[in-house]
Amino acid sequence: METTAGTPEGVSRRGFLTRVGAVGGATALYGTMEALGLIASPAHAAEEAGDFQELRPNDLPAAANGTKVAILGAGTAGLAVAYELGKAGYDCHVIEARSKPGGRALTIRRGDKLTDTDGVTQVCKFDEGHYYNAGPSRIPSHHLTIDYCRELGVAIEPMVNANAQGYYFHENTPTVNYGPLASTAVTHRQAKADVYGYISELLASAVDQGALDDRLTGTDGQRLIELVNSLGGLTGGRYTGNNRRGYSVTPGAGNEPGTVAGPPPGLSDILQSQFGTRFATEFGFDQAMMMWQPVGGMDQISAALASAVGGRRRITYDAPVTQIDNTSTGVRVSYRSNGRIRTLDADYCVVTIPPMVLRNLTTNFSAETKNALTVPTGANSGRMGIQFKRRFWEEDLDIYGGVTHTNMDVSGIYYPSYGYFQKKGVLVGYYSGSYTNLSVAERETRALAQGAKIHGDVYHQEFDNSFSVAWPKEPYSLGAWVSWPGGRGAAYQHLLQADGNTYFAGDHLSYYTAWQTGAFLSARKVVSDLHARVAATAA
Ligand code: FAD
Ligand code: ALA
Repeated sequence: METTAGTPEGVSRRGFLTRVGAVGGATALYGTMEALGLIASPAHAAEEAGDFQELRPNDLPAAANGTKVAILGAGTAGLAVAYELGKAGYDCHVIEARSKPGGRALTIRRGDKLTDTDGVTQVCKFDEGHYYNAGPSRIPSHHLTIDYCRELGVAIEPMVNANAQGYYFHENTPTVNYGPLASTAVTHRQAKADVYGYISELLASAVDQGALDDRLTGTDGQRLIELVNSLGGLTGGRYTGNNRRGYSVTPGAGNEPGTVAGPPPGLSDILQSQFGTRFATEFGFDQAMMMWQPVGGMDQISAALASAVGGRRRITYDAPVTQIDNTSTGVRVSYRSNGRIRTLDADYCVVTIPPMVLRNLTTNFSAETKNALTVPTGANSGRMGIQFKRRFWEEDLDIYGGVTHTNMDVSGIYYPSYGYFQKKGVLVGYYSGSYTNLSVAERETRALAQGAKIHGDVYHQEFDNSFSVAWPKEPYSLGAWVSWPGGRGAAYQHLLQADGNTYFAGDHLSYYTAWQTGAFLSARKVVSDLHARVAATAA
C-alpha cells in the first residue's frame, strides 16, 4: 500500500514524513503532509468523529499560544491528543510508564520483556521478523483508525478474519453433547454448506406445505423458494450436499472431475453440532471482512504517531505517574523517572491511564470523580503467540490466515495473516481469559494440548516457543479493556467532563470499548472540548 509517488527523491512516504516529524515537530509534519495532499481529514472520518473540528496551525488564539498540556499515557488516545493539539501549536508533553509507545496496542517480537504484576518475567524468543499482536489485531475498513493510518502513512495489509479453510471444533462438556460431530474439526466451508443447506431445505418444505401462507403474499413464496435454492444449493428442494463442502478427491485435468466430499451428516447431527451458532461473529458490523492490520505489527500506528508528535522531545518513557493535582493555575503531575520523583506543571492535563490503574494513584480529584473511577471493571483476556518450526497449517492444510473457532478455553486459534510461505510462523494459540491465572509454563502446556486436539501431534512436534500476555496482570493496564457494569451510567457521564483542568480520554469513554477507533474518537472529543475552553478563555 505504501507509495513513493510525489515524495522528494523517491523517499518513501512514511520514511519521509517520519524524518520531517523528527526534525520539525508536529507542525512541520502537518505542513508537509498538507503540501503532499495527505491531510484533508477525510469526510468520512469527520462524520465518524461527530463534531470534531480538526485543528490547524494558528487555530490557537494568540493570547493562548504555547498553552501547555500534560498528557498521561502514550497509548492510542494519549498520542492522538498530542498529535491533534500539536497541530494547532499547543505545547504538549506526554508521560508514559512503559518504555515505548502504544499501551495496549502491543506487538510482541524477539527480545521483548514483560513482567506481570505477580513478578514473573518473560522474554520473547521468536525468530527475527516474527511477531504477534497481543492486543488489537484487526481493524475494519470503516474505523477512524484506518483514516489515521492513511494520514500517518502507515501501510496496511489484509487481516484474514474469516477463512473457509479454518475449522469449527466443539467438544462435549458435562452439560452439552454435540453429537457425532463432537471433537471433530470441520472446515468453515463444510459447516456453512450443511447449515445453510438444511435450513434452506426446511424453509423450502415449509413453503411447499403452505405453512408460511399467512406470512407470504403474491409471488413471495416463489421468491423465497428461489432464494433458498440458491442459499442452500438445493437439488429438487432437498439438501444432499454439494461441492461447497469441498472434495474428497480434488478435480484435476482431463477426465478427473473430482469427488465431492460427502454425503453430509444428517440434519439432526448438524443441529446438534451447533456449528451454526458460530456464524454470527462474521456478521458483526465490526468483525465482517474486510479487516486490516498494519504491515509489520499493530504498534506501527503508535510508532508513527509518536514520531509525528516529536518523539522523545515530547514523550518521556519509563515514567510512571504517581500523583495528579489540580492547582489554582493548572495541573501538577508527579512521576517517577530514574529513581526520582519529578514534577511537570501544565495548564491542562489529559489523562488516558486506564481507570483500573488511575484509581490507585494519589490525586486531588473531586469525590465524584474518584467514585466514578471505581465503577469500570477490567476485562479478563489474554493472548499467546506460539512459534512453530514449520507452517504446517499452510503446508498441510491450505490455511492462510483466518481463525479456527472452538468451544474450548482457547476460544480461537488465529493463523498469521503475514509471512506466508516462510518456514516458521507465529500463530495465536488462545485468545481468552481462562489462562490468566495459570503460570506461564502451564499456559503453554495447556494451549499445546488443546491445539493438538484439533491439529494432532504436529502441534507438539513442530512447537518452538511461546509468549503469553495476560492483560489483567499487565501493571499499566490491569485489564484488557473496561466493562461498565449496568451500562454507561452516571460514572461514564461524569468522566466525560473535566475535573478542574484535567480531562479524561480512552476507548473506555466511547461506544467503541476494545477498539482503537474508540480511543481516537475519545481523543478527538477531548481535543475539541479543551480547545473550545482555551479559545473561550483567551477571547
Ligand atoms: P491504552 O493503550 O491502555 O493506553 C494507556 C496508556 O497509559 C498506556 O500506554 C499505559 O502504559 C499508560 N499508563 C498506565 N499507567 C500509567 C502511569 N501510572 N503513568 C504513566 N502512564 C501510564 N482494538 C482494535 O482496534 N482492534 C482489535 O482487534 C482490538 N483487539 C483487542 C484485543 C485485546 C486483547 C486488547 C487488550 C485490546 C484490543 N483492542 C482492539 C482495543 C485497543 O487495544 C484499545 O482500544 C486501545 O489500544 C486503547 O488505547 P488507550 O490509549 O485508550 O489505552
Ligand atoms: N475488538 C476486539 C477484537 O476484535 C475485542 O478482538
